[in-house]
Amino acid sequence: MKIIMLGAPGAGKGTQAKKIAAKYNIPHISTGDIFRANIKNGTELGKKAKTYMDQGLLVPDELVVDLVVDRVNQEDCKDGYVLDGFPRTIPQAEALDKALGDMGQKMDYAIDVNVPDENIVRRMSGRRACVGCGATYHLVYAPTKEEGICDVCGKELILRDDDKPETVQKRLNVYHEQTQPLIDYYAKAGILREVDGTIDIEDVFKAVTDILGA
Ligand code: AP5
Ligand code: MG
Repeated sequence: MKIIMLGAPGAGKGTQAKKIAAKYNIPHISTGDIFRANIKNGTELGKKAKTYMDQGLLVPDELVVDLVVDRVNQEDCKDGYVLDGFPRTIPQAEALDKALGDMGQKMDYAIDVNVPDENIVRRMSGRRACVGCGATYHLVYAPTKEEGICDVCGKELILRDDDKPETVQKRLNVYHEQTQPLIDYYAKAGILREVDGTIDIEDVFKAVTDILGA
């Protein structure tokens, strides 16, 4: 099963993608997580990506497409995967379709997690991310067992640099301009499904599994 998670920054793509990956036993591929890991490790890709990410801008398509196409060609992706944060522009979607077409494959679902802008800014200011493993939490909606400490690896939690309110607004603008057109793109392809992302995390997941099946 090959799934794309669509949605604004902070809609809950990562939260739901993680749960999908665990339930259906497929890899969770988050381009944001890949870039953050590269930044942490000081790679050339990380240095390039950081200059865009810190401003709330998209990383150029040419830095993203090959990376994802390589990743989905790996052995662990043969039974499917869930893409989180990719594609994010029409050229990225077209490049993905072409790469899959060359392999005789196609995407099964594009799930749009729908959350209005006014909910997003509130949500992002409460998000905390682990400096060690990148796991994400929310002060109110998804708290850790011990305050400020990651449940998974025990490291410290921080507010992501791009989660400051002024950068969140910029990311929302970029989303509406460059990523929202993908909703039409996948509707035309016949694989778009919508879920309400404003309800509880578990209720969103129930809607997702109703789409994907047991
Ligand atoms: P990326 O890491 O993908 O960030 P994003 O799209 O802005 O999305 P987020 O990760 O912020 O939100 P999310 O939807 O995953 O929400 P989450 O589940 O964490 O990308 C970062 C940057 O990398 C981009 O800005 C860009 O520069 C670059 N980049 C990445 N991919 C790229 C690409 N393909 N092309 C070009 N550039 C690219 O949830 C948010 C918070 O809400 C959490 O605290 C969570 O606990 C909470 N929450 C989740 N669901 C609920 C719920 N139902 N109710 C209440 N709270 C909830
Ligand atoms: Mg995410």
